[in-house]
Amino acid sequence: MGKRGAFIVIEGLDKSGKSTQAATLLRRLQDSQVSAKLIKFPDRTTTIGKMVDSYLRSESELDDHVIHLLFSANRWELASSIEESLKQGETIICDRYAFSGIAFSASKIRPGSHSYPLLDYAWCRSPDIGLPAPDIAIMLDVSQDVAQARGGYGEERYEKEDVQRRVRDVFVRIGEEFEGSGGKWLVVDADEKPDEVQTVIWDAVKDLVKGIEGPLEKLWD
Ligand code: TMP
Ligand code: MG
Repeated sequence: MGKRGAFIVIEGLDKSGKSTQAATLLRRLQDSQVSAKLIKFPDRTTTIGKMVDSYLRSESELDDHVIHLLFSANRWELASSIEESLKQGETIICDRYAFSGIAFSASKIRPGSHSYPLLDYAWCRSPDIGLPAPDIAIMLDVSQDVAQARGGYGEERYEKEDVQRRVRDVFVRIGEEFEGSGGKWLVVDADEKPDEVQTVIWDAVKDLVKGIEGPLEKLWD
């Protein structure tokens, strides 16, 4: 049996440069003759993805539990195709994954409260248990100042300073738990220039993308 592809997840706040870094990494892999593809979550093209998209644009309102489960269901829709591609030796770069799922939902607070969580952290984590686990999760850590200087946030739900600050705190906790469960979690200073960020990312993935012998693990299992 040949080696399987690597599953590389890139996470971070809005305006952290995730999509740019993911695209640059894909080009570099293709230039190095590594079979690779880029996917992103939410995948807004599926039926569930369209519901998520409409919620994010504030064109619809959904109960917070419901939208959380839809984000997760959107990943499960793609889970078997991710497994299949990896098995066939293709490396996958994934722009956001289950870590964003927990971070954005678990950082919501009850109306009228300063910090009381609306959704329980463990509850937020549970629907993603058993998804394909990434071989590495790379967290692009951007400061508020730099994120603002990059043109500020757009129009979508969650693209607000207070939300992003709370989300970042939850990402820190998620990273610790992912590492605790044997996962590889790399925090990269995304305030640096794009070329420098890419150098750090490349250094972290260059061995993984040669192919992996071991089995694909299950997330939070
Ligand atoms: P995007 O800007 O990468 O398309 O992501 C859209 C928003 O959705 C972003 O603010 C993060 C948020 N999000 C969640 O709330 N839960 C999830 O599971 C994912 C993947 C993203
Ligand atoms: Mg966005």
